[in-house]
Amino acid sequence: MTERKHKLTIRGLTKRYGSVTALDHVDLDLADGEFLTMLGPSGSGKTTLLWSVAGLNQPDDGKIWIDGREATDVPASGRDIGMVFQNYALFPHMTVAENISFPLEMRKVSPPDRSRAIKRALEMVKLEHVGERFCNQLSGGQQQRIALARAFVANPSIVLMDEPLGALDKKLRDHLQLEIKRLHGQLGMTVLYVTHDQEEAMVMSDRICLMNQGRIEQIGTPDELYFRPKSLFVADFLGESNLIPGRVTGEEAGCLVLELPGFGTVRTRSTAPRPHGPDIVYFTRPESIGIHADAENKANRLQGRVSEVVVSGAITKLFVGIGDATLKISLLTSGSQRVRKGEPLTIGWDDDVGRVLSPSLMEAA
Ligand SMILES: Nc1ncnc2c1ncn2[C@@H]1O[C@H](COP(=O)(O)OP(=O)(O)O)[C@@H](O)[C@H]1O
Ligand SMILES: [Mg+2]
Repeated sequence: MTERKHKLTIRGLTKRYGSVTALDHVDLDLADGEFLTMLGPSGSGKTTLLWSVAGLNQPDDGKIWIDGREATDVPASGRDIGMVFQNYALFPHMTVAENISFPLEMRKVSPPDRSRAIKRALEMVKLEHVGERFCNQLSGGQQQRIALARAFVANPSIVLMDEPLGALDKKLRDHLQLEIKRLHGQLGMTVLYVTHDQEEAMVMSDRICLMNQGRIEQIGTPDELYFRPKSLFVADFLGESNLIPGRVTGEEAGCLVLELPGFGTVRTRSTAPRPHGPDIVYFTRPESIGIHADAENKANRLQGRVSEVVVSGAITKLFVGIGDATLKISLLTSGSQRVRKGEPLTIGWDDDVGRVLSPSLMEAA
C-alpha cells in the first residue's frame, strides 16, 4: 500500500457538536483506486467524516489532503469529489440528463463534451433510455443508479457514498452492490463508502475501517477484521463468534495457555499484543473449528455433545455443549458428514486461529 499514491490523507481530524465528539483525532489514508468502507453503529461518526472530506462541515481540528494538496480550507465546490447519499438527492424538477449534467456544468465542461459524458454515464448504469424522463418517474433502484451516474460522470478524484443502498429492498441492494463493484473495477475510481451493514462492507471493500464513538477501532482487509479482530468490539460487530472468558495461566512452546472455567484448557499462538491483566476473553470464529477427521492432529481437541443442528442451505450450524459452555461451529453442508442432535462429537482447531482479547468492550487488546 505504501508505494501507491495516496488519494486522500486525513490527520487528527476532530469534530465536536457541543459536548458530543463526533470525530476524535481520526487518521486515515486512502490509496489511489482503493475501495474503503467506513463501518460502524449509528452515531459512530461515519457521516461526519464523509462530510468533512466533502467540505460540508468545518472540522474543529486536523487536516485533510486530496491528491496531495491540502484541502482543509477549500470549499466544497473546489474539491474534486462526487457524492451519493442514501436518499438519492436528485433534483426532482430536472430530467435525468439534466441531473447528470449538473457536476459537468459546475466544472464548465463544454456542451458537446457534456452530451458525450452523459451518454457514457447512462450506458454505464444501463439506463440509456431514460435521459429525458423526470427523476420522480423512475423507481427507487433506477434513481439510485442515476445518482451513481451523477457522482462519477465528471471523473472526480474521490467518490463518497453514504449508505447509498440503505433505502432499497434486499434484492435490489444485492444487485446494486455488484453494480457498484463492477463500476469501481471498470473506472478505477477511489471510493470512500459508508454503511452500518457488516455484510455489505465485507462484500464490497478492499479495506474496512470500523468506527466506534468517533474513533477508528480497527482498519484492515475484511479478512483481517473478521479473523483477527483487535478487540471485543470488532469481534462482536462482525458476524458470529465464540467468546469465552478465562485467564492466561502460562506460556508453553510459543503458545499462551488459557484456562477457560467450565470449558477447558486451550492453547493459542496469539501474536497480537495481549491484554495487560490475566483476565481475557478467548475468541474463535465458528468456521475455524473442525469435527471428526478435521479435528485430528489439532492443537486443541475437546469432546462435546451436539445440542442443536441448524441447516441453512449451504451452511450447517452446530451448537456443541462442552462443559458448561456452548460452542458454535459452522460447516459446509454435506450429505456424507451428517451430524445428529444428541450425539457425542470430537472437535478440534489449530492454535493459530484463536485470539486473546481484553474483556473490556472499549479497550483495544
Ligand atoms: N448536525 C449535528 N448536530 C449535533 N450533533 C450531531 C450533528 N451531526 C451529527 N451529530 C452527532 O455526532 C455523532 C456522529 O454522528 P454521525 O456522523 O451522523 O454518525 P453515523 O453516520 O455513524 O451514524 C452522533 O452522536 C450524532 O448525534
Ligand atoms: Mg450516517
